[in-house]
Amino acid sequence: MTKAVYPGSFDPLTFGHLDIVERCVRLFDRVVVSILTNPAKEALFSVEERCDMIDKAVRKRFPNVEVDVFHGLLVDYAREKDAQVIVRGIRAVTDYEYEFQMALMNRRLAPGIETVFMMPAEHYSYLSSRLVKEIASLGGSVEGLVPPQVEKRLKKKFRKS
Ligand code: PNS
Repeated sequence: MTKAVYPGSFDPLTFGHLDIVERCVRLFDRVVVSILTNPAKEALFSVEERCDMIDKAVRKRFPNVEVDVFHGLLVDYAREKDAQVIVRGIRAVTDYEYEFQMALMNRRLAPGIETVFMMPAEHYSYLSSRLVKEIASLGGSVEGLVPPQVEKRLKKKFRKS
């Protein structure tokens, strides 16, 4: 059985992330979408909120996908989950340098775990959670970039502040 972890901040989940999940389920028997809890990095959504948004988006559609939370070293977590693969989405060449460095460092720490890079559909290649948050915070539309339930939460978040 091949198991992959797809780690990230997912603050919030976008259609770009979901596109990668969709590609993963075709390749791996089990996929764990893993949210990093990082107290040093300020997030817009709490881990619980992020978990809930991902769960809502994947539960019915992809039965072989689970949502989980991790902290500490990614490779330790991947080992704990018995995953052979770490999946990372790559959008543009600019992502590559950081991802390359991280993949090689992870390989040094855990030679048995392979990082697999996946490209989302071209129309998501300019999409990022950071831009989605910026647009939503300034009252712009994020329709078609995130699932409707995430759109609603973004609206609510920025109405409050
Ligand atoms: O969505 P992001 O913020 O780009 O995801 C980054 C993530 C979570 C994959 C990365 O920060 C990570 O793996 N953090 C866990 C700590 C770790 O293992 N650091 C060493 C990496 S070589």
